[in-house]
Amino acid sequence: MSAKIIDGKAFAATVREKVAGHVSRLKEVHGITPGLAVVLVGEDPASEVYVRNKGKQTLEAGMNSYEHKLPEDTPEADLLALVETLNDDPAVHGILVQLPLPKHIDEEKVINAIAPAKDVDGFHILNVGLLGTGQKAMVPCTPLGCLMMLRDHHGSLSGLNAVVVGRSNIVGKPMAQLLLRDSCTVTIAHSRTKDLAEVCRRADILVAAVGRPEMIPGDWVKPGATVIDVGINRIPAPEKGEGKTRLVGDVEFESAKDVAGAITPVPGGVGPMTIACLLANTVTACCRENN
Ligand code: GUN
Repeated sequence: MSAKIIDGKAFAATVREKVAGHVSRLKEVHGITPGLAVVLVGEDPASEVYVRNKGKQTLEAGMNSYEHKLPEDTPEADLLALVETLNDDPAVHGILVQLPLPKHIDEEKVINAIAPAKDVDGFHILNVGLLGTGQKAMVPCTPLGCLMMLRDHHGSLSGLNAVVVGRSNIVGKPMAQLLLRDSCTVTIAHSRTKDLAEVCRRADILVAAVGRPEMIPGDWVKPGATVIDVGINRIPAPEKGEGKTRLVGDVEFESAKDVAGAITPVPGGVGPMTIACLLANTVTACCRENN
């Protein structure tokens, strides 16, 4: 039996529509337009694409978008000063500093300089702690998008065995916290996990966030499981012509889709949900500030 393909692109469009509805009510009723500031340091081509998409979708949702592009050799102190200015700017409700930052800049220092209430990435140490203790936090966008798709598919997640492969601060750890909050039994697995295949086979919900192309084959998937593939890996695709590439996830889609009950594709699964959740977090930040 072939798995249900979870259409993240369509789901993200419904989230963006809801966000746009909230934005228009905020404008009409309260005279407030939510604003998102995105800061990009350097010229990493992948980051430039992300930032462009974020700006475009922010405007499409009816919000204000403020883009700050700084040169690669920007001193850390200048970036911290910009963050401080954005913290104090009442027109800015959300701040996102695109990662990775150049090596001479201390990422943790910059993230923790963002006002926690404007930290729409949910990376500030205060938000990490709030999420970990089950309090009202800004939740990182990618895991939030995954959770929304899982809730939409399953309804209740209570009691399900969830395995998260990957222990990053951006995806793996917050994903595990969110699944725990929804009463899953959660295992965080990673590159050093013994018998990773066996651990994965126990999962009713398998979230792959390791950043290794097609690392998880179909025979690691429990029949009927829900597979959420966070990986976005570019690999050579000689079949498309010389020098061509294609995007693949951390899961081997072709073999997994014959075993899983539901699966997210790459592209068109988790990816589009991340920006949709960023827009949703910006509206949340705006509402909390003006409450
Ligand atoms: N770089 C890749 N993903 C992200 C993200 O979700 N937030 C930020 N700030 N940088 C990223």
